[in-house]
Amino acid sequence: MDSMLSSELRLPCGVTLPNRLAKAPMTEGLADERLRATDKHVRLYRRWSQGGCGLLITGNVQIDRRVLERPGNVAIDNNGGEDALRAWAEAGTEAGNQLWMQISHAGRQSPFYVTSKPLAPSPIGVKLAGSFKTPRAVTGDEIRDFIGRFASVAKVAQQTGFTGVQVHGAHGYMLSSFLSPYTNRRDDEWGGSLENRARFLLESVRAVRQAVGPDYPVSVKLNSSDFQKGGFSNEDCLQVVEWLNETGVDLLEISGGNYEQVALWGLEQEDESGKRASTRKREAYFMDYAAAIRRVAKMPLMVTGGFRTRGAMHEAINSGDCDVIGLGRPLCTHTDFAKQLLEGTVDEAPRFEDTVQMGEGYWGAHSPKNLIRTINTMGQQGFYYVQLLRLGRGEEPDLKLGTLSAIRQNLSNEIRAGMRIKAFQKEVPSTAAVPA
Ligand SMILES: Cc1cc2nc3c(=O)[nH]c(=O)nc-3n(C[C@H](O)[C@H](O)[C@H](O)COP(=O)(O)O)c2cc1C
Repeated sequence: MDSMLSSELRLPCGVTLPNRLAKAPMTEGLADERLRATDKHVRLYRRWSQGGCGLLITGNVQIDRRVLERPGNVAIDNNGGEDALRAWAEAGTEAGNQLWMQISHAGRQSPFYVTSKPLAPSPIGVKLAGSFKTPRAVTGDEIRDFIGRFASVAKVAQQTGFTGVQVHGAHGYMLSSFLSPYTNRRDDEWGGSLENRARFLLESVRAVRQAVGPDYPVSVKLNSSDFQKGGFSNEDCLQVVEWLNETGVDLLEISGGNYEQVALWGLEQEDESGKRASTRKREAYFMDYAAAIRRVAKMPLMVTGGFRTRGAMHEAINSGDCDVIGLGRPLCTHTDFAKQLLEGTVDEAPRFEDTVQMGEGYWGAHSPKNLIRTINTMGQQGFYYVQLLRLGRGEEPDLKLGTLSAIRQNLSNEIRAGMRIKAFQKEVPSTAAVPA
């Protein structure tokens, strides 16, 4: 038994996490043609609930059916589906763990097979393999509407049995893109100074807290930095954390990067002056940043990204800079890795990110060639997405899935799913204040 990882953590709202391991949010891609949860979510989360983590955070649930992170997202946008959410929540809490719904708006990072009209603070497109259309800048009315939706979706989560919520303020999606001066070029009350850029996030968190009351866990996921020249910097992050101190956040999850700088997976990243960083941490990518955040944060911290060994997890908790360890990719193939860690039967997670690559060196994930890095990243993303689809269908993971095959399977799944949801996306009304 691992007594450190098994210890409980009491959150400011009064709820207690049963241990220090959390399944990080991971987009499932399992929704139906009307973006509702399905029996595949039930199957996957029952398995994860039995897998040992004290906290499971869902993949990003969208507040706007028109602009999704991918076509299999669950959205809560005037589409019913509450019974399916209840079934998902019941299965996902079966072992007595917490299950929090991550709530998001995809913003500019919504691919062409989901929408030809992404939304963003300013019309700055994502430069990535031609997969994203140039976004339209949202109006002030739309921003106010979206803040209301973050709150109402949180309320639906609470009413359907999810035991907490997380507001997604990281990885370049809508709230995160408002924080970044690179993507937010507005000159109204939502852009310019950091105070203005952070207003959308802070008002959304306040609205969520007001909707769910003081005793219900509310978390935020935030970038330690975008690792992008001209983007949201670590200094900005520290100031935003100070502001978040006043909004009643129970757990701050720290990550980093966006689609253009895939720091969240320990891959390519620029430093804030635009140079590609030479050091690549093999484990616990964001712990150095967590130490600085710890000095200003009043709430407990969860750090996600690269944790694979018991030793690194102990070191992180012992340092006092991290209260909860977030685990992502290992749980796509080894759903009970957390349980085995707690019981002391394994010390290390598998690292498929090291082997699902076109080759080594020049052909690998850290290749000097942009195109090769992009293909490897797509292969890894495909690998993990396909595993979650398999688990949702009740199949075992395919540990032998290769890079190119993962890309092929994933692209064909995504494009087919994109076609399936078109009719529903066009149905009027989405609850949007200003229909696109
Ligand atoms: C399949 C997959 C889906 C993901 N989807 C989300 C998501 O919906 N929301 C989110 O905040 N992060 C998402 N992430 C990022 C993870 O939460 C985590 O930050 C990242 O994988 C690094 O942790 P790891 O090294 O333990 O995998 C996803 C990661 C993977 C592998």
